[in-house]
Amino acid sequence: MDTFRYRAGKLYCDDLEIDGLISQFGSPLFVYSQNNFVENLEAVRTAFQPIAPMICFSVKSCSNVNLLRLLVEQGAGLDVVSGGELYRALQAGADPSKIVFAGVGKSVEELESAVELDVFLINVESEDELRRLRGIAEKHQKRVKTGIRINPDLVDSTTHAKTATGGRASKFGVPSIHVPVMFEKFRNDRYINLSALHVHLGSPISTETVYVEALRRVYNLIREVQSMGGRLDTLDFGGGFAAHYDRSMPADTLSRASTAITRELEPLRRDGVRFIVEPGRVISANSGILVATVEYIKRGWDKTIVVLDAGMNILIRPTLYGAKHIIWPTCFQNYYGHWQDVENENQRDGSALSGVDVVGPICETGDYFALNRVLPSVKQGQHIAVFSCGAYAMSMASQYNSRPRPAEILVTGSKSAVIRRRESYSDLVALEL
Ligand code: LLP
Repeated sequence: MDTFRYRAGKLYCDDLEIDGLISQFGSPLFVYSQNNFVENLEAVRTAFQPIAPMICFSVKSCSNVNLLRLLVEQGAGLDVVSGGELYRALQAGADPSKIVFAGVGKSVEELESAVELDVFLINVESEDELRRLRGIAEKHQKRVKTGIRINPDLVDSTTHAKTATGGRASKFGVPSIHVPVMFEKFRNDRYINLSALHVHLGSPISTETVYVEALRRVYNLIREVQSMGGRLDTLDFGGGFAAHYDRSMPADTLSRASTAITRELEPLRRDGVRFIVEPGRVISANSGILVATVEYIKRGWDKTIVVLDAGMNILIRPTLYGAKHIIWPTCFQNYYGHWQDVENENQRDGSALSGVDVVGPICETGDYFALNRVLPSVKQGQHIAVFSCGAYAMSMASQYNSRPRPAEILVTGSKSAVIRRRESYSDLVALEL
């Protein structure tokens, strides 16, 4: 599903022209599509329907409370990794019985809030954390449903080193060989109900084979724990399902992953195990775009440099992970069609700028959205869309160089609503006493 489309050469979100939104709300601007969010959530639900997992949207991918509320109203649970995300989840109206809490460094205060609220599941990442959680559970006289996040010693070769989490060198999870001992120690514990496993391999993951291999390892572990008399009734198999940043990604990555995963989990389903999935970007990435304005087109020594009014403080993925985002003017010839096809050679006019760098205003050489990218010719003041910015863009944005963060707009049909106002200069110093 994609509501971002060009009609007669102008980019639209649903029925609203993007340039009109910029005139109304200013630049740079995040524009999200409500329909995209809802349909992508539905696609995940359909893909995993045979094992009917609890779908806990990963808040870190896109944290605006209005967007979380939208998904919660559609029946989603939430995956949180901090006290702040837990707070957002509650503000969004999430039912704690549909919240899972992950994270490698949960503080006493964070665990305490989760226990007080009775969140569905707390996934711990070390024996130290498990002992801390036990102390808090005892203080509150509660028996807390707990999972162990395992480190399966498995790396997906297509995932960026900075976002791969399943390898033995990563800080995440408990090495799988230590898991049975932890279960043994906490079996029948009065305050810890150790009954779940959690595995998240990293993201984005574009092949299903690594999920299958991880689940086989999990499966063996579950059987080992069961043979020791441990009871496991929940498996949280994480997120990381790839979004379609461009056409190089096959259209059926989600369905291929879900088919392989559901097949692998079928025996556990028959045994009564309940599943949790934590998708983030596959729901949010293509549900939002960033729109910026060309400030200058300058000639460098060897190339043309297009300077935008938005930079790495708003979208850090290109410089942090070498991530590719499609970048294209919001007005382009008389083009009709999907934004992912706009880069096609035959759509270009003769005045393409070849190999330009698209950069921001931040005082760092790493401040770019694309290097050596082919763009149609652009002019000063023209608006440029950066696609697939619904995930890990605004949620990772900062005020670096004292640049206020952009507004966020939600579009539904022919209506738009400001879901986060543009920050002002006074916001920059508001907390500095
Ligand atoms: N579950 C856990 C435990 C996670 O750590 C994550 C992401 C997810 C679920 C959701 O992953 P998703 O489905 O959104 O791929 N900033 C990086 C991504 C970091 C992901 C961190 N964990 C990026 O921009 O690609």
